[in-house]
Amino acid sequence: MIGTRPEAIKMSPLINLLKSDDNFQVSVLTTGQHTDMLMQALAFFNIKPDYDLNIMRERQSLDYITSAVLTGTGEYLDKNNQDIILVHGDTSTAFAAALAAFYRKIPVGHVEAGLRSKNIYLPFPEEMNRVLVDRIASLYFAPTELDAENLKSENADPSKIFITGNTVIDALFWTLNNKLNNYKLNIDLEPGRPLILMTAHRRESWGDGLINICEAVKDIIKSRPDVQILIPLHKNPAVREVIFNLLKDFKQVIFTEPLDYPDFVAAMSRSALILSDSGGIQEEASALRKPVLIMRTLSERPQAVTLGTGVLVGTDKNKISEQALKILNNKEYQEYFASRKLPFGDGTASLKIRDVILNYFKGHY
Ligand code: UD1
Ligand code: UDP
Repeated sequence: MIGTRPEAIKMSPLINLLKSDDNFQVSVLTTGQHTDMLMQALAFFNIKPDYDLNIMRERQSLDYITSAVLTGTGEYLDKNNQDIILVHGDTSTAFAAALAAFYRKIPVGHVEAGLRSKNIYLPFPEEMNRVLVDRIASLYFAPTELDAENLKSENADPSKIFITGNTVIDALFWTLNNKLNNYKLNIDLEPGRPLILMTAHRRESWGDGLINICEAVKDIIKSRPDVQILIPLHKNPAVREVIFNLLKDFKQVIFTEPLDYPDFVAAMSRSALILSDSGGIQEEASALRKPVLIMRTLSERPQAVTLGTGVLVGTDKNKISEQALKILNNKEYQEYFASRKLPFGDGTASLKIRDVILNYFKGHY
């Protein structure tokens, strides 16, 4: 079950692996919580959904997503027998689909289980979504030791918790190794000018948060007019309109539509610095050893900060611009980030998840 861009990117390596294995018969059900961004990511990994609930509406509410996914998934499951449902992460698609499976007593495997900020409103509504999925799940695929510990501390059955790494690293390494040799990023970037890549979309940042982020960008440009700032705008009108209107007059800022995954990976690789509130981008930045300013006040991925390349800056205008300039202006600080560890896995998460599922059906757990 998938519904949004990050679920598509993070589940594609696993879907393709399971599809290539005769032990499995795989159906890909998409809720269509996202339309364009979901299909764009799936197309890159050559995956066609078997069924699409097609629920997306403009500026959809959380109530609407949850009820439409619950009803639609339920109807699908009533017509199509499934031995296990795999959901990913913390979206409303993941929560409502897991609930529909629970109502039919179908086991749920949770990919990217156990991440916790321990504040139910941050990120919103994702923290509660993943807590609820983990109450329902029968198998937990925890990316790291810390995520597994979180699950144990909530009394999840330890024999059902498996540390696998994050499948986003599988997607990233596969793309780097198979698609990016001699790859030309088709965006007009001037050679020699430092690039900042920026994305923002979180619901808790709507309003003042997004305005502060844009003000910080203006401060960065003022101090370093030589930088170029690439902003692939999220499709959400509540986000794109604000960012576009506040930054459209600055010639240093380059706006694009959401980039195809290989273009986005190439852009991350080309950047001197990434500004983002995205979960997946923190993980990818750590693997690419690129400094990322995490525009959130709390993180459910603290390893990005303690081991990886992240700095938590919230949506505080001064913190964002000060940290950005510190990185841009300081070679030693840049080298520090380039030497960080790779906390989110080694690119073999999907293989580990496949083996666990096989053993589950052999009765080993
Ligand atoms: C959703 C997830 C969030 C995830 C993010 C990834 C929930 C509650 N939120 O947030 O956890 O981090 O996806 O990007 O599950 N839209 C389009 N075309 C698209 C996609 C979105 O037009 O391809 C517009 C629609 O107007 C839609 C709006 O964006 O109503 C918001 O989409 P929604 O899925 O509700 O929220 P996101 O902020 O994208
Ligand atoms: N991404 C992409 N194109 C873009 C922006 C992001 O392919 O223009 C990828 C990015 O590499 C990461 C994922 O989308 O794998 C992150 O998605 P998003 O920020 O929407 O969601 P989150 O990770 O916050 O849930």
